[in-house]
Amino acid sequence: MEKEILENYIKAGKIAARVREESRSRAKVGAKLFDLAEWIENRIKELGADIGFPVNISVNNIAAHFTPSKDDETTFKQGDVIKIDIGTHVNGYIGDTATTVSLGGNEDLLKASREALNEAIKIAKPGTKLGEMGTVIEQTIKKYGFKPISNLTGHGLDKYDLHAEPQIPNITNDMEYELKEGQAIAIEPFATTGSGRVNESGDVMIFMLVGPRPVRNFDARRIISFAQKRNGLPFAKRWVLSGLGMSDIRFRLALRELSTKNILHEYHVLKDVDDCKISQFEHTVIVGDKPIVTTRYEE
Ligand code: CO
Repeated sequence: MEKEILENYIKAGKIAARVREESRSRAKVGAKLFDLAEWIENRIKELGADIGFPVNISVNNIAAHFTPSKDDETTFKQGDVIKIDIGTHVNGYIGDTATTVSLGGNEDLLKASREALNEAIKIAKPGTKLGEMGTVIEQTIKKYGFKPISNLTGHGLDKYDLHAEPQIPNITNDMEYELKEGQAIAIEPFATTGSGRVNESGDVMIFMLVGPRPVRNFDARRIISFAQKRNGLPFAKRWVLSGLGMSDIRFRLALRELSTKNILHEYHVLKDVDDCKISQFEHTVIVGDKPIVTTRYEE
């Protein structure tokens, strides 16, 4: 990897790690989810990076893709298991990292995904098969008596691309694909007390521009130009409503045309079964004989 690119990854990672650690103490009983989200996104900019994707704050049986809407009044409660998934970027090079905060209990559930991540990082070396990585993650999580979420994966990272190849599996499999020197990847094991699979809910708070084309609706045009400023990275509905001063109903009307024309990718909120709890830890890693964890926290 070129020195300049690596420096961007390192800077993005450092800031993501710092915001992640600072955010943990703010996820407490009675605090508003909305306030935490806004604090995190502002803090990223304050520290000199840009936002890689809207912060995901997913509670209990929600695994991913939840970010509060503009009028979200939810507060954290005793016993909540809160996943905070943070994305930064510097010149398009992304730092993607997640932590889980438990507001009482579930220590082993957190340990399971944290240890699975650490074990996977140890083998993030050239020549490691993706199948081996999935096996290490699954076995570590099962050792604690939980299930890995089989239909959520880590992913490669590239400039302004949060979904580069390859997908990094969280379960054992026969993928022969081998990791390569200098590849940037995000490894993110999820451990669940539930079924081990997530389903798409009807809620969508996060979007990404995939195919801009002409639209009739005036607000749809405004949303497209808002989205174009993201250079292919995801954005939140919350940002559009406050940034463009658009009402929820107008957004939803515009979305009809944007959806039927496949202009936006919609990140549905992903959930396992009711009443279950899910933990997640994630780091961004540059593959090498000594893997570089860009999102490791250093004081
Ligand atoms: Co990720």
